[in-house]
Amino acid sequence: MKDMTLYINCCVRKESRTNRLAKAVLQKLGEDYTELKLYEENLRPLDLEKLNRRTELIERGDFSDKMFDCAKQFANADTIVIAAPYWDLSFPAPLKNYIENIYVTGIVSAYNENGLPVGLCKANYLYYVTTAGGPYDPTYSYGYIESLAKIFFGIPKTHLVKAEMLDIAGNDAEKILNNAINSVLFD
Ligand SMILES: Cc1cc2nc3c(=O)[nH]c(=O)nc-3n(C[C@H](O)[C@H](O)[C@H](O)COP(=O)(O)O)c2cc1C
Repeated sequence: MKDMTLYINCCVRKESRTNRLAKAVLQKLGEDYTELKLYEENLRPLDLEKLNRRTELIERGDFSDKMFDCAKQFANADTIVIAAPYWDLSFPAPLKNYIENIYVTGIVSAYNENGLPVGLCKANYLYYVTTAGGPYDPTYSYGYIESLAKIFFGIPKTHLVKAEMLDIAGNDAEKILNNAINSVLFD
C-alpha cells in the first residue's frame, strides 16, 4: 500500500509563511499527502456532552463513531507534518483542539499492564514546521508535540523546521524564509 503523509495545517493567514515552509517539507518528502485544514474542519472541543459520550464509547471499546475519525487518520499516517505559526509562545488554539480530539486511548495510545504509555501510531517521522516573528523558543510548541509523539504516540523521530525573527524591524523576512526553504529543499 502507498505511504500516506498527513499534513495538519494550522495556518490561518492566506499568505502564511509557515504554510510556505511546510510546502517545501512536503515537496522534499516527495509523496502525495492528505491535507487537514484545521481552520476549516471546525472540530468541536471536548465540551461536557462530547466528553461524556466519548468516555462512554472508549469504555465500551466502540470506536465506530465519526468523532474518532481524526484519531484513526492520525494513527494510520506513515508520516506527519504539522504546520503552525508561533503564537503567544505556543501555537494557535485549533491545534490544541485537534490534539484533544485525536488523543484517544485505544487508538493513538494505550497503557501496558504496568500503567505505562505505549504508542499505537504507525508513523516513524513527525515534522513540526513553524515560523516566528521574534526568537523561537520551542518549550510550549515543538517541545510539547515532541513529548506527546515520543512518549505517548509511539512516533520515534521528530524534527523541527523553523524560520524565526521574521517580524524584527530591519530584517528581510523574505530572505530568511527563502533561506529556510532552500535548506529544506537542498541541504
Ligand atoms: C496572534 C499572534 C501571536 C503571535 N505571538 C508571537 C510570539 O509569541 N512570539 C513571536 O516571536 N512571534 C509571535 N507572532 C508573530 C508570528 O509568529 C509570525 O508573524 C509568524 O511568521 C506568522 O506565521 P504565518 O505567516 O504562517 O501566519 C504572533 C503573531 C500573531 C498573529
